[in-house]
Amino acid sequence: MAVKVIRSREVYNIIRKTLEIMDDKVMKHCEITGYILYKMLEAENMYTKDELAEYTMMGLVHDIGLIKTAYKKNLTEHITKKVWAHSIYGYLFLKYLTPLGDKAQIVLYHHLDYDKTHGIPNEFWKITHYLALADKMDIYMRMNDDGSMEQDYFERYRNIKFSEKALKAFYRANSRFNIMDKLQDGSYVEELNTLLSSVTFSEEYKRDYLQMLIYAIDFRSEQTVLHTLATRIFAVEIGKLMGMEETDQQLLYYGALLHDIGKIAIPLSILEAPRRLTDKEMRIMRAHVQLTEMILNGVITDEVLQAAIRHHEKLDGTGYPRGLKDEDLTQVQKVIAVADILSALYGKRSYKEAFDSEKVKSIMRSDAENGKICFEATNIVINNFDEIIKSYELQREEALGIYEIILAQYEEIYERFKRFE
Ligand SMILES: [Fe+2]
Ligand SMILES: [Fe+2]
Ligand SMILES: [Fe+2]
Repeated sequence: MAVKVIRSREVYNIIRKTLEIMDDKVMKHCEITGYILYKMLEAENMYTKDELAEYTMMGLVHDIGLIKTAYKKNLTEHITKKVWAHSIYGYLFLKYLTPLGDKAQIVLYHHLDYDKTHGIPNEFWKITHYLALADKMDIYMRMNDDGSMEQDYFERYRNIKFSEKALKAFYRANSRFNIMDKLQDGSYVEELNTLLSSVTFSEEYKRDYLQMLIYAIDFRSEQTVLHTLATRIFAVEIGKLMGMEETDQQLLYYGALLHDIGKIAIPLSILEAPRRLTDKEMRIMRAHVQLTEMILNGVITDEVLQAAIRHHEKLDGTGYPRGLKDEDLTQVQKVIAVADILSALYGKRSYKEAFDSEKVKSIMRSDAENGKICFEATNIVINNFDEIIKSYELQREEALGIYEIILAQYEEIYERFKRFE
């Protein structure tokens, strides 16, 4: 697609703000670790800008697996206890959902002690060791308040817990770039932005990274793992069938992809409640829209933002969060609302079984007739139901396949890692 509705650096900023909403300490940790890794590699004068940006991105998302492991406690705990779960999930998300392939091993092994890495095949050991060092350096500098790392850690554990070469690379980079000062005065953030602004990720790369993030969020709950995928596919299909232009189709794609990103902060007990939610729970659940807005605000164009956050508005003003009406909503926003409802009705959820086609159509028809949802888009759904569902089913198989692979590989790798405990 020719028109760009999302710029390269926005991809990282969305990930950054998502992590921040989940846990601001995790976000800071990822950001600093990514920065340190970036400078360590840059100091070696052997990487292109694109390579630097790619490895830096990996540093910036290296703890992304924490989204799945519902990590909320003391950050330093993850360096000593239960480190495998998030490393393995992070690795699997990157390996199967981004174009990184084997490079994802950099994330898989970022907590493995240096002296245990010998003999394990990994084309990217050097960067893995650098990332591991950057990770430890941040924990050591900022958060060594619970005694999980001894004061003399970096003297004591050379080539035991971390690579001495990596430590030297860090010292070299620090004397050349004053890493410590930049972390201190906060100017590292701008440097990261400059790096990511200087490269242009392909449309596919951007989509994959965002898709990976959303998948990781949906992955928390088996019930919703396919909801975003379905909403996105339905929205784009409906848009095409309505003859919407390409820019609008892109808005449909990104708006639907990001529409429930705020669910990252909604507890699983609510997301997976096998019953009607209480009023209080419902209020929390509905807050996902405001959370989505908090994440996307300022890091994405207003058009994509509005496409994402208006999917629970109803044409008669009875929706939330703003109670907007028909005349306030664009066609793109209305289509995403229809796609979201179709996805919820068609799919199996914690509180309901999947409905059959006739039931889905009749509920949607009455919603449209009652002035709740867009009549035109609903008609398109009803008249092209099998076609729309079919294009979803095809991609669903693939997505479910990946889901199964990730779950199975998780168990397999975890078994292997147990001996390192
Ligand atoms: Fe980690
Ligand atoms: Fe980390
Ligand atoms: Fe929603």
